[in-house]
Amino acid sequence: MWSAVIVDLVITFISIVLVIYSVHITGSYQSKFKALYFLPPIVGAINYGRKGGLIVSAICSAALFIDTWGSYKYVDTFNLLLDSDLAYIFILMLIAWLIGSMEDVEHKIRQNLLSWNQYLQNAERLSIIGQMAAGTAHEIRNPLTTIKGFLQLLQLKINNDKQEGYGEYLDIILTEIDRMNSIVSDFLVLAKPTETRLECLEVNILLQEILSLVTSESLLRGIDFKIVYGKNLPPVAGDKEKLKQVILNLINNAFQAMQEGGKLTIGTYYDEETEHVTIWIEDTGKGIPEEIMDKLFEPFFTTKETGTGLGLAISNQIIKNHKGRIRVESELGKGTKFFIDLPRLKDCNLDE
Ligand SMILES: Nc1ncnc2c1ncn2[C@@H]1O[C@H](COP(=O)(O)OP(=O)(O)OP(=O)(O)O)[C@@H](O)[C@H]1O
Ligand SMILES: [Mg+2]
Repeated sequence: MWSAVIVDLVITFISIVLVIYSVHITGSYQSKFKALYFLPPIVGAINYGRKGGLIVSAICSAALFIDTWGSYKYVDTFNLLLDSDLAYIFILMLIAWLIGSMEDVEHKIRQNLLSWNQYLQNAERLSIIGQMAAGTAHEIRNPLTTIKGFLQLLQLKINNDKQEGYGEYLDIILTEIDRMNSIVSDFLVLAKPTETRLECLEVNILLQEILSLVTSESLLRGIDFKIVYGKNLPPVAGDKEKLKQVILNLINNAFQAMQEGGKLTIGTYYDEETEHVTIWIEDTGKGIPEEIMDKLFEPFFTTKETGTGLGLAISNQIIKNHKGRIRVESELGKGTKFFIDLPRLKDCNLDE
C-alpha cells in the first residue's frame, strides 16, 4: 500500500523535474518541447485525481513562468507572456482538471465495485453458512427429538414412582432442549430470513421469563445482576423466542466482556417522542474500541478466539425484521450499553 503511494509520488516528481529541465536546456520559451509541460499534470491527475492534477499543473505553471521570465530578460516582453504562456498555463490547468475529474469518477466507481464485491463475498459466505446451517439443524434436531421423547418417558416414570425432586430437573432439561432446538432453527435467520411470528408482547414480561436463567449464570460468574423495569410501557409486536434470543445474545456478550466480574444491568423504557419501547443491556466490561464500532454487526466479525461473530449479525437481522433497531454506546475500559428499540403497538390488535 505504502510502496504504491511512494512509487506514484516518485513518478510524478520525476516527470515534473524532467520536463522542466528538458524544456529549460532546449531553449525555454523557444523550446520545441514546451508541449511536454502537459505531461506532469496528466501524470498528477491520473495518480491523485482532480486535486493532484491541479497542484502539479500549478507547480508546472510556476516553473514555466519563472523559466520564461528568465529567458525574456526584458520586462516589456510581458505581453508576449500573455500571448503565449498564459494560454499554456490555462490549458495545463484545464487538462489536469478534466483528467482529474475522470480519475475521481473512476475512483468512485472502483470503490463502489469494491464494496459491492465485499457485499457479494459476504452474501456468498452467508449462503454457504445457510446451507451448512440447514444441514446441521436437521442433523441436530433429529437426535434432540429422540432425547426429548425418552426424557418425557422418564418423566412419566419418575412421576409414577413419585421420586421427589427429579421431576424438576427433567423440566429444566426439557426446557433447555427446546431452547437448543429454537437456537438451531434461529441460526437460519441470517441466511434465510424466516417469517417472524409476531404476537402482542409486554417486554417486561419477556425479561421476567429470562430472569432465572440470567440470575443463575450471573451467580456462577460472580457478576452483580439487576433489572430496572420501566413503567407504563405500551406493548410491542414481537416474536417472543427470537426476541429472547437477541437479549440472551447481548447478555452473553456482556458476560464475555466481564471476565473479571462486574455489573450487568438490563432495563426497559418507553420514549414517547419516538414511540419506541427500548430494552437496554449494560455491562461494566472492557468496552469496545472506536475503530471496530461500525464492524460489530457484520457477519463473522469477532475479536474472540472462539467466537463465530454471528451473534450481533443475527440479532440485528431479527430486530430489523421487527422494524426496530439496535444501538450501542461504549467507553473503553468502562463498559458497554446496547439498546434494542422496538416500535410500540397502539393496542394488542396486530392488524393495525
Ligand atoms: N458487550 C460487549 N463488550 C465488549 N465488546 C463487545 C460486546 N458485545 C460485542 N462486542 C464485540 O463485538 C464483537 C462481535 O460480537 P458478536 O456477538 O457478533 O460475535 P462474538 O461474540 O465474537 O461471537 P458469537 O458468534 O459467539 O456471538 C465481539 O467479538 C466483541 O469484540
Ligand atoms: Mg456474541
